[in-house]
Amino acid sequence: MQTILITGGAGFIGSHLVRHFVQKYPDYKIVNLDALTYAGNLENLRDVEHSPNYVFEKGDITDTVGLKDIFEKHRPDGVIHLAAESHVDRSISNPMAFVETNVMGTVNLLNTLRNLWGNDFANKRFYHVSTDEVYGSLGEEGFFTEETRYDPRSPYSASKAASDHFVRAYFHTYGLPVVLSNCSNNYGPNHFPEKLIPLVIKNIKEEKPLPVYGDGKYTRDWLWVKDHAEAIDTIFHGGRVGETYNIGGNNEWKNIDLVEVLCDIMDELLGREPGSSRRLITFVKDRPGHDRRYAIDASKLKNELGWQPSIHAEEGFRETAKWYLENEEWLLRVSSGEYQQYYEQQYEG
Ligand code: NAD
Ligand code: DAU
Repeated sequence: MQTILITGGAGFIGSHLVRHFVQKYPDYKIVNLDALTYAGNLENLRDVEHSPNYVFEKGDITDTVGLKDIFEKHRPDGVIHLAAESHVDRSISNPMAFVETNVMGTVNLLNTLRNLWGNDFANKRFYHVSTDEVYGSLGEEGFFTEETRYDPRSPYSASKAASDHFVRAYFHTYGLPVVLSNCSNNYGPNHFPEKLIPLVIKNIKEEKPLPVYGDGKYTRDWLWVKDHAEAIDTIFHGGRVGETYNIGGNNEWKNIDLVEVLCDIMDELLGREPGSSRRLITFVKDRPGHDRRYAIDASKLKNELGWQPSIHAEEGFRETAKWYLENEEWLLRVSSGEYQQYYEQQYEG
C-alpha cells in the first residue's frame, strides 16, 4: 500500500482531488491534512469520509512540531501540496497571512520531508500545486509556457512564486524528488463564494449586484475542477522528477462575457425572464495590480502524458450553477459569519 498525504484536502480543489484518489485508488491510504481555515470544509468530503482508505488529520503546515508528528505517524510515500491562502483580494488586504502559509508553510513541509525521508528517495515524490499567476500578465496575444519568466504582481502570486522557487531549490540542492504544476482558474462545485463564479451565481440567486472589476475585459482561462484533479493524478504518476507542467482549460473568457453567460444560465434554471439578471451587473472599483489576461499553453502535458480538458465550457458552467442551486445549505453555511464581514469590507466598505 502506498500512503499519499494531500495538504489542503478540505478546500475547493483539494476536496475534489481527495475524492478522486480515494475512489480511484482503493489500495492507497489517503491522508488529508488541513488546518480548516475559513476556506476548508469537511462537508465537501461527506461522501468519502467513512472510506477505509481515507484519514483526516487537522494540522497547520506552519506548525513544525505538529507536522513532524503527523508525518511520523503516517510516513507518506507521496505528498501532494495544495494547502494555501488562495484569494488574490485577501492577499491585497493581508499579505502576511500569504507569506506565512504559502512560503513558510511550504518550506516547513519541505524540511519535514527531508527529515522523514533522509536521503532515501526511492519511490518518493513531492508534488507542488501552483498557479499560472506566477507568470504575471499577458497582453492580447500569446500564452504562458513552462519557460515563461516569473513576473508575479500580487502578494498572492508573489507568495506562490516564492514557494515554487523553494520547491525547485530543494530538488537542486538536496535531491528531493519534486514535480510541479501551474494551473489556470478552476471552477465547479464547492468553490468558495469569494471567487468570481460562485459569487456571481450566489448574487444572481439573491438578486444582489454582480460586482465586475474595472472595465470587465480582464481575461481568465477556466478549467473544470475535476479535470484539474485528473491532471494532477496524471502528473503525480507519470510526470518527470524536477519538471513543471502547465495545466489549462484552453477556455478563455473576458469576465463580462462570463458574467453575462452565468446570468442567462441562471435565468433559465430559475425560470426568470430571459435577460433579467443582466440588469444586476455593476461595474465597481478595479482590483489594484489587476492582471489583464492569463492563458495557458498546456501542450507539454498533452504531448508527454496525454492529458486534455474533458468538458465544454457552457456545459461546465451550467453544471456548476445547478450544483449551487441544489446545495443551498452548503452555500448558506459557508457564507455565514466570517464571510459576511469579508463581503462588507470588500464590496460595501
Ligand atoms: P482553497 O482556498 O479553496 O483551499 C485551501 C485549503 O488549504 C483549505 O482547505 C484550507 O483550510 C487549507 N489551508 C490553508 N492554510 C493552511 C495551513 N496553514 N495549513 C493547512 N491547511 C491550510 O484553495 P483552492 O482554490 O482549492 O486552491 C488549492 C491550491 O491550488 C492552492 O495552492 C492554490 O494556489 C492552487 N491553485 C488554485 C487555483 C484556483 O483556481 N482555485 C488555480 C491554480 C492553482
Ligand atoms: O489563475 C489561477 C488563480 O485563479 C488561482 O491561483 C487563484 O487561487 C484563484 O483565486 C484564481 O485567481 P483570480 O484572481 O483569477 O480569481 P477570482 O475568481 O478572484 O477573479 C477572477 C476574475 O474576476 C479576475 O479578473 C477578477 C475578477 N473579479 C473577481 C471578483 C471576486 C471581479 O470582476 N469581481 C469580483 O467580485
